[in-house]
Amino acid sequence: ASTLGASAAAKGRYFGTAVAAGHLGESAYASTLDTEFTAVTPENEMKWDAVEATRNSFNFASADQIVAHAQGKNMKVRGHTLVWYSQLPGWVGGLSAADLRTAMNNHITQVMTHYKGKIYAWDVVNEAFQDGGSGARRSSPFQDKLGNGYIEEAFRTARSVDPNAKLCYNDYNTDGQNAKSNAVYAMVKDFKQRGVPIDCVGFQSHFNSASPVPSDYRANLQRFADLGVDVQITELDIEGSGSAQATSYTDVVNACLAVTRCTGITVWGITDKYSWRSSGTPLLFDGNYGKKAAYTAVLTAL
Ligand code: XIL
Repeated sequence: ASTLGASAAAKGRYFGTAVAAGHLGESAYASTLDTEFTAVTPENEMKWDAVEATRNSFNFASADQIVAHAQGKNMKVRGHTLVWYSQLPGWVGGLSAADLRTAMNNHITQVMTHYKGKIYAWDVVNEAFQDGGSGARRSSPFQDKLGNGYIEEAFRTARSVDPNAKLCYNDYNTDGQNAKSNAVYAMVKDFKQRGVPIDCVGFQSHFNSASPVPSDYRANLQRFADLGVDVQITELDIEGSGSAQATSYTDVVNACLAVTRCTGITVWGITDKYSWRSSGTPLLFDGNYGKKAAYTAVLTAL
């Protein structure tokens, strides 16, 4: 096939991108999105600070724009994200434990109810583990006040609100086998054993020279899949350029295709000019929406 989305579909997978509502009015942005991609993730518009900046006052306007666009084009939507320490309004951190639990469950309930039936998969909890060798949980208002059980509680609440959405745990630096991914693996294994509802694990896959595509990427995806969850590459971008970057993209696509339960790949933006890595060129289209060597590599590998 001649597009990323059609080629991925021929392999039974989606090919998605992060989207910012503010760029949808740019014709080249929208036409590249509509031509090449079959799934979207709102880059910031569904985060807590965007939808509930003030307690129990919800604003879905920007996220709705993205969801409506996606629905009009038959694209999947990945919901990102319900419970995360970052882009979290200050009022959340000021709550008592009991109040925080209520607020967390209310946030999940309100947001998932608003989008019920429209979301393929939700990143229910994002980035709950520390980097480095400890395998420990990351400090956050949720972790510090509610303890380890907040993740399980968030997933149980999410399942009760929209039983048809896949529920994912999403993180970075978990792409290869290391202390951090081992800790996530132990959590997912425990959840599956105890019947805590979890359907998928997202691997952000933000790669650069200090953090390249790991040699055991496929093996790591496979060990999670073997626990009985889908795996997805959720925020792919790779710093660099030219053939080295293209080769790394090929490695990522091949890893996903080698794992039956790797259901799709999402890149973290369409064009280098709007990448969150403002100084870099980590995406598949250059600043003028030209197809890079990395694009051709992905299309060829799919
Ligand atoms: C980033 C966005 O791309 C930026 O626009 C924003 O300023 C910060 O967040 N992990 C995640 C994403 O789960 O939500 C982050 O997105 C990138 C790292």
